[in-house]
Amino acid sequence: MDKPKVVLGVSGGIAAYKACELLRRLTESGHDVRVVPTASALHFVGAATWSALSGNPVSTEVWDDVHEVPHVRIGQHADLVIVAPATADTLAKAAHGLADDLLTNTLLTARCPVVFAPAMHTEMWEHPATQENVATLRRRGAVVIEPAVGRLTGVDTGKGRLPEPAEIFEVCRRVLARGVTEPDLNGRHVVVSAGGTREPLDPVRFLGNRSSGKQGYALARTAAARGARVTLIAANTGLPDPAGVDVVPVGTAVQMREAVLKAAADAGAVVMAAAVADFRPATYASGKIKKQDAQDPDPIVLVRNPDILAEISADRARPGQVIVGFAAETDDVLANGRKKLQRKGCDLLVVNEVGERKTFGSEENEALVLGADGSETPVPHGPKEALAETVWDLVVKRLR
Ligand SMILES: Cc1cc2nc3c(=O)[nH]c(=O)nc-3n(C[C@H](O)[C@H](O)[C@H](O)COP(=O)(O)O)c2cc1C
Repeated sequence: MDKPKVVLGVSGGIAAYKACELLRRLTESGHDVRVVPTASALHFVGAATWSALSGNPVSTEVWDDVHEVPHVRIGQHADLVIVAPATADTLAKAAHGLADDLLTNTLLTARCPVVFAPAMHTEMWEHPATQENVATLRRRGAVVIEPAVGRLTGVDTGKGRLPEPAEIFEVCRRVLARGVTEPDLNGRHVVVSAGGTREPLDPVRFLGNRSSGKQGYALARTAAARGARVTLIAANTGLPDPAGVDVVPVGTAVQMREAVLKAAADAGAVVMAAAVADFRPATYASGKIKKQDAQDPDPIVLVRNPDILAEISADRARPGQVIVGFAAETDDVLANGRKKLQRKGCDLLVVNEVGERKTFGSEENEALVLGADGSETPVPHGPKEALAETVWDLVVKRLR
């Protein structure tokens, strides 16, 4: 089988050096990558590096190898175009259909999915001109990954940083796997919760659970690759931030509730994949609880935590908001799932069986998605991303 053809556009931002790692990941995972830098990009990383790492020729202008008509051919034959980093200038040119170099010509001739990973100073990113260009590109079907918040060129910090290459690579992988040019969550805000809450007993101990957060992160990643603005409320995961996703770290169920209610206010869908503790210790000892010799320990008294899923389902922040819950069950999985769906009042409930070696921490999952409309969608054993894609398919149907 032919290798998937990827065009890696690189424009003239300081983060161009990070595109070398993205290129490496793409070539090593079996993609045929043609790097198309802008002339400015070559001030940061030279043509020799792009050519040697990709194994393909590199030019910036339409005037090289004219007999092969590269300004048309490269775009026509691509399965994916990813521009990383995308400068404010290149976003503006793409939004307005300018074509004064090889990259901008390629963007006009490509009929495959196109992803932009912008990187620039916060002021440039927030400027209405850039924001309007981004909105135009999204409206036309491009996936524009939100920049990360962090260290920028020089001493500045803020929004505008290129997400980590490993995470941009994940977006490319998902977009290529779907192969559609109309990202169906473009322009939607979705909220995903992930991980497991920790309910403190004292400054060093907590009641927790085995959730790794991987399923929630897979949901966030796939939603971003489908064009959504994603808020990920993450409880104690320690996983790298997915590209283009706004991560809100929380610790306890009470903090999770506060963050979910805030983010859900303008969201089209909320997917509660986190394992939220049903109970928390009634009291918190401000000092470490000491072992008393010859005395049995005091029992731990628990009180109920808020039921976030039931609350947001009963009191929807917006009409038509789609709410998805997860039910981790150890026995009588289907019967318990049906009861839980009714009790919670959500639109979809993803029911899966958990246990010592099942689901928690694993890369794979298997589930049955129950709909409030009586539907049942089985998802066979497979990567957590596959389950995530099915969940979004079902959400998108309900959003329409
Ligand atoms: C040191 C340096 C760093 C720059 N970093 C960025 C950047 O991160 N993002 C950006 O949009 N422009 C950045 N610029 C400005 C662009 O290089 C400039 O707008 C250029 O015209 C972009 O051309 P291109 O879009 O064709 O690559 C930087 C310029 C310099 C000199």
